[in-house]
Amino acid sequence: MLNNINKEIISFKETEIMEVANFGRNHAIVTGEKVYPAWFGEGDTPTDKIIYDKAVDALVKGKTFYTFQNGIPNLRLEISKYMNEIFKINTKPDNHSVVTGGMMGLRLVCDLILSDNDEVVIVGPVWPNIKSSVLLKKGVIKEVSLTLGKSGWNIDFQLLLKSISSSTKMVFINSPGNPTGWVITKEQQNQLLNHIRQTGSWLISDEVYHQIIFNDTVAPSFLQISLPNDRLIVINSASKSFNMTGWRIGWLTHPEELGEHIAKLVQITTSGVPEFLQNGLLSALHNYKVITNELKLNLIKSRDLMFARLKTWSRVECSVPEAAFYAFFKVKGMDNSLEFAKKLIVETKVGVAPGIAFGESGEGHLRICFAANEDFINAIMDRLEPVLNSKS
Ligand SMILES: Cc1ncc(COP(=O)(O)O)c(C=O)c1O
Repeated sequence: MLNNINKEIISFKETEIMEVANFGRNHAIVTGEKVYPAWFGEGDTPTDKIIYDKAVDALVKGKTFYTFQNGIPNLRLEISKYMNEIFKINTKPDNHSVVTGGMMGLRLVCDLILSDNDEVVIVGPVWPNIKSSVLLKKGVIKEVSLTLGKSGWNIDFQLLLKSISSSTKMVFINSPGNPTGWVITKEQQNQLLNHIRQTGSWLISDEVYHQIIFNDTVAPSFLQISLPNDRLIVINSASKSFNMTGWRIGWLTHPEELGEHIAKLVQITTSGVPEFLQNGLLSALHNYKVITNELKLNLIKSRDLMFARLKTWSRVECSVPEAAFYAFFKVKGMDNSLEFAKKLIVETKVGVAPGIAFGESGEGHLRICFAANEDFINAIMDRLEPVLNSKS
């Protein structure tokens, strides 16, 4: 049977994050012991009532039919107002298309732009689904790696520019970055945008963590410096900013003329995001200030709680991130993060994401999501300390 399905899919590996999560879940079943899950990138706070009430209300009112492929008009209007307000820009509703989460946005962008053997330049370590989406389209990845220095994660920016030529179809930037929390500067954004204007490449900017920055109101967006006809698509999501991971809703910001082509791709994948869910996002955007203020305050508290201990541990090299919600740190003496993460489950009952999941440049590191309550953080840190603060 399997020899008759797409060989690409058969050869595709699940990510090492899933491998660890499945190992951990299985370990919990077999041993009957609780395993603390810190492997995925999501907070532990359910979606606010102010958001879900609107979705429930829409359901009650019978908003249960097929809907607009690019999103209902009032949501596209609200997205443009939100984006214009937070970034001080001037987009129109037609610059935005509602999609089934950042993940589907990413897949649609790859469908829209990539063909076999197209070169894609990516800054890593990076969230694995980005590479997988490129590989599914048979793109060829060229990675430029960030390095961890005293002042945090940095990029050799000249090397990045040199890596992008007229043979580069797409450049993929994720800032604030998962797993590193790296934030591209405004100056770097300017240089990169000017560079791709010369090479003719598409710039795809994954800005799903734009609200999750602790030393500013929002992270810098390429939209603040772009022109309407730049080859720029920005991927966004309700997941991280509004505690809506399970809703599967996000949006793409793009040149107006791409809208009809995105609509065709949506038509043959999901046919559009359910209208009652779109009403939830509408409410999140109306109320974004209250929601994100509280989220940020909580994240700062949990980040500080985690790093007060992490940075003193003998086997850990880390820098405190100013954005996103991950601790991504080097573990001295660890050369196989996948095996190490599994061992951690058995020995400490804590599930973390292995660095190798984020590419070769992530090997030697582990990622823990700190979007969690104080008790959870204290519990996992108590359990991890004997291993990560030991001599060996
Ligand atoms: C960098 C990055 N982009 C996109 C996504 C996708 O978000 P969603 O599909 O939940 O909107 C994630 C989720 O972890 C992410 O970390």
